[in-house]
Amino acid sequence: MKNGSVYIETYGCQMNFADTEIVLGVLKKQGYTVAQNPEDADIILLNTCSIRDNAEQRIYGRLGNLKNLKTKKPELVLGILGCMAERLRKDLIEEKKIVDVVVGPDEYRRLPEYIDIAFNGDKGIGVKLSRTETYDDIEPHREDGLSAWISVMRGCDKFCTFCVVPFTRGRERSRSLNSIVKEIEDLSARGFKEVTLLGQNVNSYQDEENDFSDLLAAAAKVDPSMRIRFTTSHPQDLSEKLLYTIAEQQNICNYIHLPVQSGSNRILELMNRTYTIEHYLNLIEKAKRIIPGVSFSTDIIAGFPTETWEDHLATLDVMRQVRYDGAYMFKYSPREGTKAYKMGDDVPEDVKTKRLQEIIDLQQQISYEINQGLIGKEEIVLVEGFSRKSNEFLSGRTDTNKVTIIPAQENIKPGDYIRIKINKATSATLFGEYLSHIVFEKSSVVLSA
Ligand code: SAH
Ligand code: SF4
Ligand code: F3S
Repeated sequence: MKNGSVYIETYGCQMNFADTEIVLGVLKKQGYTVAQNPEDADIILLNTCSIRDNAEQRIYGRLGNLKNLKTKKPELVLGILGCMAERLRKDLIEEKKIVDVVVGPDEYRRLPEYIDIAFNGDKGIGVKLSRTETYDDIEPHREDGLSAWISVMRGCDKFCTFCVVPFTRGRERSRSLNSIVKEIEDLSARGFKEVTLLGQNVNSYQDEENDFSDLLAAAAKVDPSMRIRFTTSHPQDLSEKLLYTIAEQQNICNYIHLPVQSGSNRILELMNRTYTIEHYLNLIEKAKRIIPGVSFSTDIIAGFPTETWEDHLATLDVMRQVRYDGAYMFKYSPREGTKAYKMGDDVPEDVKTKRLQEIIDLQQQISYEINQGLIGKEEIVLVEGFSRKSNEFLSGRTDTNKVTIIPAQENIKPGDYIRIKINKATSATLFGEYLSHIVFEKSSVVLSA
């Protein structure tokens, strides 16, 4: 069965990248092949993001480029998937005539039907959200590699007032623990060395009596030579049990992405983040105590409605107290349909820009200082391949997710764990020298909890 070839581009968060693999899994099963570039494809799909206005503008720009291709080849099917499809629905097609298919995150199973509708000259629209869809049984299409993503839950019930995700991804639901463990076993057999468990709020994972800590522990036991990462943790739901689980299992990375968003309790409340900064800092302290050497990253929004200079200073203050290893920092972007949208967007653009720049500068200084402090220390690095700049160097990452560069040598291959000594550091990169290889015993325990 041959059905045509598909080219897909992915934007947005890691969950969208994981979804793209599910989409390709669904389409391959129907006989579609994967095209390596848009010119060769019968179907072009953009898996899109709505989180901030600039994410959507990028897609409109890309649609502008693709117009030429469609003019040359009118039978080409052009589809929008993901969060923008869900948010804008048929408006997308009404506004952008070149779009033939609009399919949201919970309707990928039926994508082949919507594509058929488009092949027959109509518009294929599927944007129903589901309370149960987890694509548990779909085998994702994954190229061979070292690192894989697995969505362990979908949706979000938090309704932070600035955020579109609860509207574009629907209600929270979890995949079964057994199917996730099975997938990790398969990845281990294929030589993967790192798995990142994904969800908008992984701490609310629940499969019967198993919570997220149970899932992490089960994932870690599959293969001790496989690193387990996870994202994102919501500060309200991160449990002590989870911290102990991370501390106990050597292959669960000592790295927690814990978005704070703002350092001001007044703003946190307006954001409906449901925690106070005291709770947050207490959690950080607990994590530092329970997991020696733990590192943190965060997300910060500058210029949320009504944010004052004092609120902004409170954010800088929290950054100084926690000393994050890294941060994703954004200007507030009003999103229609959210609660914050109704609060107005009263922080002027130039003030947002200035605050964001101060946040970025401070984070860079902190990252630099933390990394300087690592000089002379030893780290274990999972080697990923040649560095981007030169084949004379190899690149890998530490347990704490820091990119590390070492001189290449014959006996070091991608997928190896090596002990290195750090001798130089910038705010973004560590440089080190090779000391020795680390070998993990493959566990003989076969897990099916
Ligand atoms: N579920 C995750 C994050 C999802 S979105 C969490 O709870 O943290 C990733 C980040 O984008 C958010 O943490 C937030 O910092 C940012 N973000 C979301 N909506 C935004 C908006 N309207 N404007 C600016 N940044 C936003
Ligand atoms: Fe958005 Fe908040 Fe859910 Fe994260 S927890 S996806 S920021 S609503
Ligand atoms: Fe974007 Fe949707 Fe992810 S809005 S950040 S692609 S969940």
